[in-house]
Amino acid sequence: MFTQALVVALVSTAAHACTGTISSLTDVAAAVLCTTININSFTVPAGQTFTLALLAGTTVNILGDITFGEKSWAGPLFSISGSNITFNGNGHTFNGNGQFYWDGKGSSSGAITKPRPMMKVKTSGTFTNLKILNSPAQVFSVDNAAPLTISAITIDDSLGDQPNSMSAGQPAGANTDGFDVGNQAPLTITGCTVMNQDDCIAINSGAGVSFLNNHCSGGHGISIGSVDTGDVVSNITISNNVVTSGANGLRIKTVATATSGSVSGITYSGNTVSGVTKFGLLIDQSYPATLGTPGNGTILSAINFVGTNTFTIASGVVPVAVNCGSGSCQGAWNWAGLKVTGGAANKINYAGITGFSLSG
Ligand SMILES: *[C@@H]1O[C@H](CO)[C@@H](O)[C@H](O)[C@H]1NC(C)=O
Ligand SMILES: *[C@@H]1O[C@H](CO)[C@@H](O)[C@H](O)[C@H]1NC(C)=O
Ligand SMILES: *[C@@H]1O[C@H](CO)[C@@H](O)[C@H](O)[C@H]1NC(C)=O
Repeated sequence: MFTQALVVALVSTAAHACTGTISSLTDVAAAVLCTTININSFTVPAGQTFTLALLAGTTVNILGDITFGEKSWAGPLFSISGSNITFNGNGHTFNGNGQFYWDGKGSSSGAITKPRPMMKVKTSGTFTNLKILNSPAQVFSVDNAAPLTISAITIDDSLGDQPNSMSAGQPAGANTDGFDVGNQAPLTITGCTVMNQDDCIAINSGAGVSFLNNHCSGGHGISIGSVDTGDVVSNITISNNVVTSGANGLRIKTVATATSGSVSGITYSGNTVSGVTKFGLLIDQSYPATLGTPGNGTILSAINFVGTNTFTIASGVVPVAVNCGSGSCQGAWNWAGLKVTGGAANKINYAGITGFSLSG
């Protein structure tokens, strides 16, 4: 019996040791039966998802640029799932044609439905070296059931910084979050560049996220949340990132009406923030208001700055704002690793912060 099972296993592995090639959506069904898949340049027809549901251990090689057709619909544009997947973008571009959708209103309103996310990733393994151009709205939604490393991704929605004929003078792109994370297993995002109009990364729930050596510009910064009832965020490392321009550098936002949940074990080290227009760091329990009446249903603890984090803040901009609810920020937070130059007065209502002084 054992030998027979082994033979069956070997035969089935051999049967999948083929190389599939995709040059249109009609090639997908046959190609995903192979554990090596080469993808050539093609246009995904408007209104359809390019879905790769992969066998464990599959390697995907992108060999040309992929363009997504234009249509008002819910999306997603691309969806990939499977365990132990090696995804090589080889520097090619996935083009979402965002300029067709952008009307300054983002994902929740407007006459045009923006397909989102552009990239739905439910793989483990590695996902690397891809450029994302002009996403209609949110870019990556990541939910990995086993360890995943995402690296060397460039998200370029910078064209959306400009107003267009539909955006009434506002930046045309909106809600173009770089990475929306709700992971179930360790996730590392490293060496990526995000140019957009919303969060660089938003960690909504999950444990064991490492966001390392990334460059964020133009958006709302590196965010935890918005954390709502029941959400638990823990063991997050945010290291050696550079945030230039945009509204905020670093942010933790919890929903004012949340009745349970927690954010704990958040460690910032080696990050640099400059050129922001609202806050260097904003920890706010009044979301969706900004520095409104905070709720206290989400417990915040062990939020620390180690090493050297450097904020260079323009005059009139608040370097650090902390708006905790009654009793919901807990324990000592060591901020000895946070150095601020410039800016207006800080707005901090939590007495448990140690080691931090405005003059650094
Ligand atoms: C992952 O897939 C590779 C092939 O890409 C294979 O060599 C390796 O054994 C797999 N690892 C696990 C843990 O399944
Ligand atoms: C925290 O996350 C890191 C990276 O994912 C992981 O290696 C480590 O085991 C986690 N630690 C705890 C206490 O969960
Ligand atoms: C939240 O505020 C209410 C009302 O003031 C208080 O009874 C409760 O203990 C507070 N929760 C925490 C975690 O301190």
